[in-house]
Amino acid sequence: MHRTCRLEGKVAVITGAASGIGEASARLFVEHGARVVVADIQDELGLQVVESIGTDKTTYRHCDVTDEKQVEDTVAYAVEKYGTLDVMFSNVGTLNFCSILDMDVTAFDETMAINVRGSALAVKHAARVMVDKKIRGSIICNVSLEGIVAGAASLAYIASKHAIVGIVKAAARELGPHGIRVNGVSPYGIATPLVCKAYGLDAAPLEAAINGNANLKGVTLSTMHVAQSALFLASDESAYISGQNLAVDGGLSSILKLH
Ligand SMILES: NC(=O)c1ccc[n+]([C@@H]2O[C@H](COP(=O)([O-])OP(=O)(O)OC[C@H]3O[C@@H](n4cnc5c(N)ncnc54)[C@H](O)[C@@H]3O)[C@@H](O)[C@H]2O)c1
Repeated sequence: MHRTCRLEGKVAVITGAASGIGEASARLFVEHGARVVVADIQDELGLQVVESIGTDKTTYRHCDVTDEKQVEDTVAYAVEKYGTLDVMFSNVGTLNFCSILDMDVTAFDETMAINVRGSALAVKHAARVMVDKKIRGSIICNVSLEGIVAGAASLAYIASKHAIVGIVKAAARELGPHGIRVNGVSPYGIATPLVCKAYGLDAAPLEAAINGNANLKGVTLSTMHVAQSALFLASDESAYISGQNLAVDGGLSSILKLH
């Protein structure tokens, strides 16, 4: 079957791409003709991902998104290595579960630093390059269902994800005149290392619990479903879509479950 290359010739940076949704997106973007900088703090895993996708199309770059210099350097590296930057997928996130009553201020600050400051920095440095080089790029932020409604996560996670929706809207407004689009993707649950660790559960029981609470039955949400949504927002197929937060949640954020 002939496959259309929906990102032919495009260059992307994906943060948090050593695992989960970011890794699936790196694989899919490359499959669709892109060259991708895999940015993460898990160096060994990131290098393995790059090796398995192909070092001719991907490169690993250590990048802690809370450190502005590292984010700036990662974007500069993509431009130096591949000549341009068309897509930034700001995908990194951290998650914890604790009651408001037991909220730890250090954990709160860490969540804000990774989720909110990290997203803002990825948007900022991608935008600076795109504006400077007059690239009509696409910036995507990984939000969450928890950025639309309060589900099962901690106050810090829910607040941080709502803040990312604000980043998406603010950036879409300011960057629209430059032809740059900014959107969010908001997945429901997937048993990735992030969620397994936060819940202290193995993937199988966690997936069963996620499916139990899902609205849409008969399909299990996967990292590839989210990657497909990011691919759509990265590609020219979404050429007039900006400032949106695409829920990949089987309808859950649109309904009130009554039993
Ligand atoms: N899995 C879900 O159910 C779900 C649902 C909604 C939203 N999300 C969001 O998806 C995104 C990706 O999560 P995932 O589920 O694929 O988890 P994951 O654990 O598989 O991947 C997260 C990656 O981020 C990296 N990372 C963490 N802190 C970092 C930092 N400071 N700098 C650079 N990299 C860092 C980790 O090393 C890891 O490789 C997150 O933003 C998360 O909030 C996940």
